[in-house]
Amino acid sequence: MGIIVKSPRELEGMRKAGKITAAILDTLRSEVRPGITTSMLDDVAVRELERHGAVSSFKGYRGYPNSVCASINEQLVHGIPGERKLKEGDIISIDFASVYEGFHGDAAFTVGVGEISAEAERLLATTEGALKAGISAAREGAHLGDISAAIQEYGESREFSVVREYVGHGIGREMHEDPQIPNFGSPGQGPVLKRGMTMALEPMVNAGGWRTKVLPDQWTVVTADGSLSAHFENSIAIAGDQAEILTLL
Ligand code: MF3
Ligand code: CO
Repeated sequence: MGIIVKSPRELEGMRKAGKITAAILDTLRSEVRPGITTSMLDDVAVRELERHGAVSSFKGYRGYPNSVCASINEQLVHGIPGERKLKEGDIISIDFASVYEGFHGDAAFTVGVGEISAEAERLLATTEGALKAGISAAREGAHLGDISAAIQEYGESREFSVVREYVGHGIGREMHEDPQIPNFGSPGQGPVLKRGMTMALEPMVNAGGWRTKVLPDQWTVVTADGSLSAHFENSIAIAGDQAEILTLL
């Protein structure tokens, strides 16, 4: 299919979808507290989608049953909402995407439930820093590998490991477009970034090793060694020296 460069009008559409995704994620963040179940968080997302006139990008995607992915502690992505209650000291990754007037916006964050350990705090800060490092490398004229390398370098600088089996992706009229964007790689490799390319960068960083496995529910991905994992994601547009973050409030 190749990498799709968006026109100014398409970028307008991407901005609208990105803003709705950011607003709903902000609401979800404010709902995180001890005692809430992940299915209650999903209910909030469904209600907010309706209020914005948007639709979930996830629900029905390859049979995925819900509107958000909610992944707790050693779960890194694709956790299915259910009756488990969040408790003080947990970390939760909420991944959410919406489609509005034909364009997708995809973003995620990890947040602590009440007080969390110093190591968990460091993991969250490192993963968010890795995402920011990737965004900083996403300049017109740079190579895709520059983004991957920046994310990897930041993630591994604190003796954590970056997940290899799950990657970022192009985004637009489809939630997943070319190219795939690994969270590890070499500078100078891969396609040159052009103004108007839109992509979702989404590093997952583990406190232990990078290996993962999928639970018997066929969706929930956990760290192979049971260590904590965090996930931060933004959709961005390549725009000269500094990428535009589409999934900002
Ligand atoms: N945000 C994730 C991604 O970009 C989640 C998609 S999985 C889904 O791949 F099934 F929930 F849609
Ligand atoms: Co994504």
